[in-house]
Amino acid sequence: MEGGSSSISPIATNRLQGKVAFITGGASGIGAATAKVFVHHGAKVVIADVQDDLGRSVCDEISSSVGGGADISYVRCDVTSDSDVEAAINATILKHGNLDIAYGNAGVTGNPDPSILGINKDFFNKVFAVNVYGCFLVAKHAARVMIPAKKGSIIFTSSDASVNHSGVHHDYVASKYAVVGLTKNLSVELGAHGIRVNCVSPYAVASPMRLNVMRMKEEDVEKVYSEAGNLKGVILKAEDVAETVMYLGSDESKYVSGLNLVIDGGYSLTNVSVMNHFKAMMSSG
Ligand SMILES: NC(=O)c1ccc[n+]([C@@H]2O[C@H](COP(=O)([O-])OP(=O)(O)OC[C@H]3O[C@@H](n4cnc5c(N)ncnc54)[C@H](O)[C@@H]3O)[C@@H](O)[C@H]2O)c1
Repeated sequence: MEGGSSSISPIATNRLQGKVAFITGGASGIGAATAKVFVHHGAKVVIADVQDDLGRSVCDEISSSVGGGADISYVRCDVTSDSDVEAAINATILKHGNLDIAYGNAGVTGNPDPSILGINKDFFNKVFAVNVYGCFLVAKHAARVMIPAKKGSIIFTSSDASVNHSGVHHDYVASKYAVVGLTKNLSVELGAHGIRVNCVSPYAVASPMRLNVMRMKEEDVEKVYSEAGNLKGVILKAEDVAETVMYLGSDESKYVSGLNLVIDGGYSLTNVSVMNHFKAMMSSG
């Protein structure tokens, strides 16, 4: 099976040369992969998370992957806290002088009991606090510095749950739809200041979040989703999402704004139950 490689694409280098990027949820999964891709393409990166040890070790690991010369640092930041996000973005500006890319990616999964009767209000609020308010705060504090600069790219991670029924919890799905709404509404207000706002909606990636939910090994999770997926023979990796985020952060997407960029190999187009039912009916005579 091809597509399983986690190496960085060698096709073009330095696509983010000199840009400063702030990434939430950067200690793990998609955020950590994005930090790595960004650094490999010449960006200066600040990752923000609540997993301090992991965040620092991700920075060390990424730095050594480019021979120790990477400009990447970790800041503790709970994205549900206005003052934390403000301080983290201020620290980024203090360190690097400007902010080109703000990526609101931190996220959590939904209630343990997914049914409408079982959903717990505290969990529901937590999911919205991290997944939606966290993105809002990243945009708010990024806009504070991007508006005077009259440029910038704000990116969020939504989910393929924003475009199809993926069997996940109501609170998580509602939060990811909300991220798409936030993206589109912000892109209108911030377009007046030359700032682009987009989000990505990945299909399943075997990140720590997904592995915790499914309680399966990485290769088994990837097997399930690649076999069930539309694009055969390909496994979606965190690095593939990262490359898409890089496109949205780079000047290559300079006129792209308000987009929910779905990374699902066409899976959301495969509503084939009527056709399958019809074929089964015909073959049974
Ligand atoms: N893995 C998937 O299949 C998948 C698919 C679609 C969308 N997503 C989305 O991708 C994003 C990244 O998830 P991932 O799969 O890499 O999971 P992950 O668990 O590996 O990473 C999420 C990171 O967010 C951090 N985080 C959680 N709450 C935080 C808070 N309050 N403040 C700061 N950081 C916080 C975690 O510590 C973790 O490092 C999430 O928004 C998730 O909903 C994931």
